[in-house]
Amino acid sequence: MRACFGVKTQLLISRVFSRPSTAVRWRAVQTRLLCSPPTGEEKPQHSMLRHLTTKIKATGPIPVAEYMREVLTNPVTGYYVTNDMLGPEGDFITSPEISQIFGELLAVWAVSEWMAAGRPEQLQLVELGPGKGSLASDVLRVFGQLRAVLGGASVSLHLVEVSRALSRLQAQSLTGSRGQEAHGEDEPAYRRGETGAGLPVSWYRRLEDVPAGFSIFLAHEFFDALPIHKFQRTQKGWREVMVDIDPEKPDQLRFVVAPSPTLASSTLVQGFKGHRLHDVLSSPGSADLTADVDFSFLRRMAGGGVACLGPVPQRTFLKNMGIDSRMQVLLRSCGDASTRQQLIASYDVLTNPAKMGERFRFFGLLHPRRLARPAPPAGLKLEKKPSPAPLPVAGFTELGLS
Ligand SMILES: C[S@@+](CC[C@H](N)C(=O)[O-])C[C@H]1O[C@@H](n2cnc3c(N)ncnc32)[C@H](O)[C@@H]1O
Repeated sequence: MRACFGVKTQLLISRVFSRPSTAVRWRAVQTRLLCSPPTGEEKPQHSMLRHLTTKIKATGPIPVAEYMREVLTNPVTGYYVTNDMLGPEGDFITSPEISQIFGELLAVWAVSEWMAAGRPEQLQLVELGPGKGSLASDVLRVFGQLRAVLGGASVSLHLVEVSRALSRLQAQSLTGSRGQEAHGEDEPAYRRGETGAGLPVSWYRRLEDVPAGFSIFLAHEFFDALPIHKFQRTQKGWREVMVDIDPEKPDQLRFVVAPSPTLASSTLVQGFKGHRLHDVLSSPGSADLTADVDFSFLRRMAGGGVACLGPVPQRTFLKNMGIDSRMQVLLRSCGDASTRQQLIASYDVLTNPAKMGERFRFFGLLHPRRLARPAPPAGLKLEKKPSPAPLPVAGFTELGLS
């Protein structure tokens, strides 16, 4: 159903997107779904394999969750800690790396939700797993364009990142030389800095360390990187799948089924290396591991304390947020044929149902008040007219963009 509200969000969209002023910064057009042959020979991560085999010899087979945790985030040899995996030269590329439009649309979404929350004086943008920092950088650029809308709100950026190596990359892109590592082990933030526009940026290892305050959280390709347990149905019931050393080849790992019963799960684990599906047990630490996100589990874990929206396909969300209007403006302002082609290719990757359009989903968690009708003031007689309906949430509802 086409919502006829949208006025505020539409104004924001036209304010940001009607001008081609933002330089078109084209990024590569390859994704986890668009596979190209890997370049060069595969280099096994011997130290990670040695670490895992020593551990398994000492404790017996380990759960898939422990395997994922070690392979991805081990502080010395973990994949995210030792690799620059994002981009055409890396193992995969994500939507914020494909096109700036992605972050721009999320910035408009964030500002419209900040407005719907009554324009709190403080706006903390919190990103979980910020990768190269491109999404945060695009969002902050649009916040700069919307400074008049944001008024005197005190805006700050808070990044929850487990990898110090990636945090250095993020700091370079977001703060240049205006930042430094914190030295006290007890400090909640392990790095602090300031953007060119003077906005404070802080880095944390854990979400719990982010200070309390009105916050908008972005988590893109984050939940699929968190460790999961895997289970298999056998004739004896559900059994947990574990990672063990292959007895035939002591330098190789294999999946085994635990003899004792556990809870069930059908989540899929996949590996990505050089933009190709990768055997998750081969060269641990050299490839990303990712699991299908169980949104119904997230919904159940969130409980009744929040309002959940979606998941809706990425294509639906981006179209609702006005990606087509933004594309038209950029195409009109772009005379160079190859940039136009890149622009169209990026749009296609982001929205085509066979690429990222359907497989990637948007899921929103909001304060329950955001979707509730305001209660009439106590003591007043009920009017005949009901209190106004809450504003629909942009992206999850079609806007009447003109
Ligand atoms: C697949 S990348 C996604 C990067 C970025 N959001 C994007 O879409 O381009 C996953 C990110 O989450 C971070 N990460 C993974 N596990 C984490 C954890 N447990 N705590 C904090 N960050 C984590 C990784 O270091 C990396 O920055």
